[in-house]
Amino acid sequence: MTTDTTATDLAAADTAAPSTGDATRTGRIGIGIGMVGYAFMGLAHSQGWRNARSFFDPALSPELVAIAGRDGAAAAEMARRFDWQHVETDWRALVARPDVEVVDICTPGDTHAEIAIAALDAGKHVLCEKPLANTVDEARRMADAAERARARGVRSMVGFTYRRVPAIAFARQLVQEGRVGEIRHVRAQYLQDWLVDPESPLTWRLEKERAGSGALGDIGAHIIDLTHFVTGERITGVSATMETFVKERPVAGSVKGLSASAQEGGERGQVTVDDAAVFLARLSGGGLGTFEATRFATGRKNSIRLEINGSRGSLAFDFEDMNVLHVHDASVDARESGFTKVVVTEPTHPYVEHWWPAGHGLGYEHGFTHQAADLVDAIARGVDPSPSFADGLAVQEVLAAVESSAANASAWTPIDLPAGTQP
Ligand SMILES: NC(=O)c1ccc[n+]([C@@H]2O[C@H](COP(=O)([O-])OP(=O)(O)OC[C@H]3O[C@@H](n4cnc5c(N)ncnc54)[C@H](O)[C@@H]3O)[C@@H](O)[C@H]2O)c1
Repeated sequence: MTTDTTATDLAAADTAAPSTGDATRTGRIGIGIGMVGYAFMGLAHSQGWRNARSFFDPALSPELVAIAGRDGAAAAEMARRFDWQHVETDWRALVARPDVEVVDICTPGDTHAEIAIAALDAGKHVLCEKPLANTVDEARRMADAAERARARGVRSMVGFTYRRVPAIAFARQLVQEGRVGEIRHVRAQYLQDWLVDPESPLTWRLEKERAGSGALGDIGAHIIDLTHFVTGERITGVSATMETFVKERPVAGSVKGLSASAQEGGERGQVTVDDAAVFLARLSGGGLGTFEATRFATGRKNSIRLEINGSRGSLAFDFEDMNVLHVHDASVDARESGFTKVVVTEPTHPYVEHWWPAGHGLGYEHGFTHQAADLVDAIARGVDPSPSFADGLAVQEVLAAVESSAANASAWTPIDLPAGTQP
């Protein structure tokens, strides 16, 4: 761990804006963060690290040491805006920096395995964006590297950020308290519509080599992980079908977030991933699941819907109303029975005490602050954060089973659970 950033370090910063000097003034113990990739997730994570410092005041205070990006000028501009102290144009140089103690991977899936394994082997804690990898083989190698590193006190975590939405974390608490009883049904959907326009360009998310899969890995991975997280159970088999509705698109020029403009010249390229994936599943506790991940749900922007029906009650969540969890208690007299709308903004709800008074609400970005705060807290306490790389591997195995089933006329495709996994 670094002690506070010194004035000399800050003066030596190669690109960044002047530091506020907070670390020196507050006498906090810092932990140096190095981030690879600086676009959509780079922005969300930068804000997460900054706000974790301020709102959670963790024992190890994240210091924004360096970002790595291949375009030095663009990375320097990002560093200026978010007060990153240094810029590297090769991620290997970032991993090699002695002042970087956590490597935060915010790049497309085809880069995750190489960067994460190099960082873990170099003794750096790692936060890696989801899905953990593009293939089960890569994810397994990453989980093995994480296990080796763990023996040396090096921690790792996957960025399944939606686990850290207070209403989702509260849903898990209710399940753990037995309020839902035995889980019979999980109904999970992740619905977006940003690809409905057939002229929307061919970004890396539409290339199998870069993204691994399409809607399935990009957003389906989240609802698979949320199911594992909230129920405490595992998906044990699937029957799936997938479709690519628009098979050819204009090659992308500039890209910003999920949107992009087409390259001049009108060149078109093949879409090599799914636009939508739908599957049935069985859960390790005996329940059934239905899953849908699509970027073609016209009118749905970022609708993550999770409904769980159990022997004692039900829970229902939609990210488009993310501060709310609908809770049904089946023991209530039939005359008054129904779903109660719980506004999950009380200080007694997960994470909320660090923010605003009841009813003032949280947004998309808060999950990234919770993620950053939980990771540095786990590092400070010497415990393993979650979701672990093994949890990321579990999701990858479901993704692979879905692709395999879809390629095989929706054949039932079982997923082996590791020995010792609780049914
Ligand atoms: N947790 C979430 O909710 C969530 C949301 C969106 C994306 N993601 C994940 O985050 C990751 C990044 O997605 P994004 O939306 O930020 O993508 P993006 O296209 O907005 O940004 C990708 C960044 O990676 C950089 N990059 C690409 N290849 C690189 C390489 N070889 N070396 C160094 N830098 C490289 C790009 O320059 C860019 O800065 C993906 O794994 C994605 O699935 C997670």
